[in-house]
Amino acid sequence: MKIIMNAWYVAAWPHEVASGAILSRTVCNLPMVFFRDGDGQPAALEDRCPHRQMPLSLGIPEKDHTIRCAYHGMQFDGTGRCVEIPGQDHIPDGARVPTYPCVERHGYVWVWPGATDRADPALIPDIFERNDHPEWSAVGGTIHLRANYAMLADNLIDTTHETYVHAGSLGDDNIQANPIQVTGDDQHVHVTRWILDHDAAPLWREALNQDGNVDRWQLIEFRPPASTVLDVGVAPAGTGAQEGHRSHGAEGCNLNFGTPETEHTTWYFWSFARRFRRDEPGYDEVLQRKFADVFAQDSGAIEGAYSVMRRNPGRPVVNLRNDAGTIRARRLVEAMAEAEEAGTRPAADHG
Ligand code: FES
Ligand SMILES: [Fe+2]
Repeated sequence: MKIIMNAWYVAAWPHEVASGAILSRTVCNLPMVFFRDGDGQPAALEDRCPHRQMPLSLGIPEKDHTIRCAYHGMQFDGTGRCVEIPGQDHIPDGARVPTYPCVERHGYVWVWPGATDRADPALIPDIFERNDHPEWSAVGGTIHLRANYAMLADNLIDTTHETYVHAGSLGDDNIQANPIQVTGDDQHVHVTRWILDHDAAPLWREALNQDGNVDRWQLIEFRPPASTVLDVGVAPAGTGAQEGHRSHGAEGCNLNFGTPETEHTTWYFWSFARRFRRDEPGYDEVLQRKFADVFAQDSGAIEGAYSVMRRNPGRPVVNLRNDAGTIRARRLVEAMAEAEEAGTRPAADHG
């Protein structure tokens, strides 16, 4: 899948861009350097000194929230302006570093690699408040995925794989038997699956921390090009979860962002926020480990499939009933790519 440039992508966790830290990260084939400016806001600059092209990410973070190039000491602020050249007062016009729009929101640092005049922060999806909401607790991590970013959405939108890829944790034999409903518009794909009155999968049994059959929900929302949010959970069977009464249950929200590094590699930012077992000492660490294992399993499957795909370019694949959501999602991203190529509209109108 072609990389969409005019979109907000998660570039980093806020703690990776701590005050005094310098982060090097390539987003959409663009090497960038991230740091905090004097106002504490994240800044993203091209990772290239305009003097002799030393990567600025190898530079020195200065106390005044600038970066000093580690080669000949030119100093740049968060707007890319050169503020000092050792040994010379005159700062030439070309002594600037291109910047990328960069915003911290919803517990992530976002960057816009495309046309700067289209980078409206209002286009950042507004549905991820659970990652830093006082009523939710979140764990999360980053995986460097050796696959095109579209493969990640394929994985997340079709949860049928859980039975096999996540046997012993999220998987159970009831998933396939329960069909999905797919809806959406030109900016969203919604996939809904309910699995009623069944024995809980092991990880959900532990989350709920009680015996008895459960109703399980998987309510998935994909927004092109790279955001997939899963509202997931279980509640004791028959307590009205399907009608919206979920407070007796274990409610989770799995946020996923697949940021293209290159066409063939992806920064996968995952998190799992929950409203269950929040106050138990050590449970954050337990869930961090378990979900890191789950998403490592996904990554193994995705990378395996992607390497075979690259050996078989253009070779047709078979589609199944449960692929309806992923097919719809791909069409949305393809439409964005075509629109971006044609220059007809801003691509990532998340609305
Ligand atoms: S290369 Fe950066 S100051 Fe010379
Ligand atoms: Fe998975």
